[in-house]
Amino acid sequence: MSAQHLESHPQWSTRLAFILASAGSAVGLGNIWKFPYIMGDNGGGAFVLIYLGCLLIVATPILISEVMLGRRSRSNPISGMAKLSREAGVSPAWQLIGWMGVLTGFLILSYYSVVMGWALAYIEKAADGAFVGADADTVEGIFTSLVSNPGTLLFWHTVAMLLTITVVARGVRGGLELATRIMMPLLIAILVLLFGYNIGTSGFAPAMEFMFAPDFSRVTGETFLVALGHAFFTLSLGMGAIMVYGSYMPANASIVKAGIWIIVLDTAIALLAGMVIFPIVFSNGMSPEQGAGLIFQTLPLALGAMEWGYWLAIVLFILVSIAAWTSAISLVEPAVSYLYERFGVRRLYSAIGAGIATWTLGVFSALSFNLIDDVTLFGKNFFGIMEFLTANILLPAGGMLIALFAAWRMRRADSSEELGLSGGAYRLWWALAAVVAPAGVALVFLNGLGLFG
Ligand code: PHE
Repeated sequence: MSAQHLESHPQWSTRLAFILASAGSAVGLGNIWKFPYIMGDNGGGAFVLIYLGCLLIVATPILISEVMLGRRSRSNPISGMAKLSREAGVSPAWQLIGWMGVLTGFLILSYYSVVMGWALAYIEKAADGAFVGADADTVEGIFTSLVSNPGTLLFWHTVAMLLTITVVARGVRGGLELATRIMMPLLIAILVLLFGYNIGTSGFAPAMEFMFAPDFSRVTGETFLVALGHAFFTLSLGMGAIMVYGSYMPANASIVKAGIWIIVLDTAIALLAGMVIFPIVFSNGMSPEQGAGLIFQTLPLALGAMEWGYWLAIVLFILVSIAAWTSAISLVEPAVSYLYERFGVRRLYSAIGAGIATWTLGVFSALSFNLIDDVTLFGKNFFGIMEFLTANILLPAGGMLIALFAAWRMRRADSSEELGLSGGAYRLWWALAAVVAPAGVALVFLNGLGLFG
């Protein structure tokens, strides 16, 4: 590793750029596709409350820790963890956090890109007017024929990967920063517009009731664990994305304040997405408990019956695609920054190399809905296995190691200096990162392994 490369470690131009890029990473399919349906599956309001609790006491201290490790190291997650271990005088084995992160990002992106491809395909279908006036069977048929056609799926998976590596190849300022500066305000504008449209509809009041009136009779032990697991996925925690974005953060910006902004934006956008999706569902007399098909089946069906449905459907799937795109770039950035800084491989080639590898693995996810849908493990297809392995095992494990390293391995003077915290505020972060967050993650982890049935 030449010192020259490390000295040229890039930086966001402002604190706002860091916040927008990180919020772009956090806000993705997790917010718009996953959050509404797991909220639907888990009883609405009560789930929202529990989820907010998890964000506050587990995800917040880990997010702050992860940004802190990034900025302190000013390096990609792999070399960065090596540097921080040296600084703390502890075992270089902590570099594992960086390796695991790069691997996890690679695995997640491989299937994330397939789902991003569905969203892109749906823009085209919506523009063709495929949903206008369609009945339930037709809408279901559209989804089924998309996922059962290997050629179409691979085409859209390829488009999604190309979009992703194009941004990453252009570098931190010219790619990641520029893209999120344009796309995040656009995404928020589209959501607010759709929200405004929904306020006037008959489904708005029942949707509010469903989302915000807590019905605790539906809460079980598992509700807590689902909520906590989702907090990791939606905030992009535990795999180095937030770490590498933190490493580009200006030295004088407050990590705690920026971290809170990211969490507030991610949460506000997830709630707003619910306030857009559920009114549409309720206005059409449908059920909010539709599972994973909510966005790609229930919603198009509902939209097809609505007055402005043609346009709403197009705009909505553009929204989903943008959200997925700004997350996808953060999934590959840890690997690209490592290849570039460690081996001096130019960004363009690093991005192409990482892109080809990820695309290839993603082919198996795409084909697991059709040609190889008989290849299963524990009843899950390849796509399902990847999702399970990353969201339920690798992200929680990574997050836990990050919290443990930050709290128990770094010198207190170093973490206090980097965070800009002292006294009670520092002790609060420390207690949450050292004890509360790892204990919470241990629960998710055990649940992920199915130990609670
Ligand atoms: N946070 C993203 C989402 O909600 C997914 C993601 C996970 C992105 C991990 C980067 C890292 O869709």
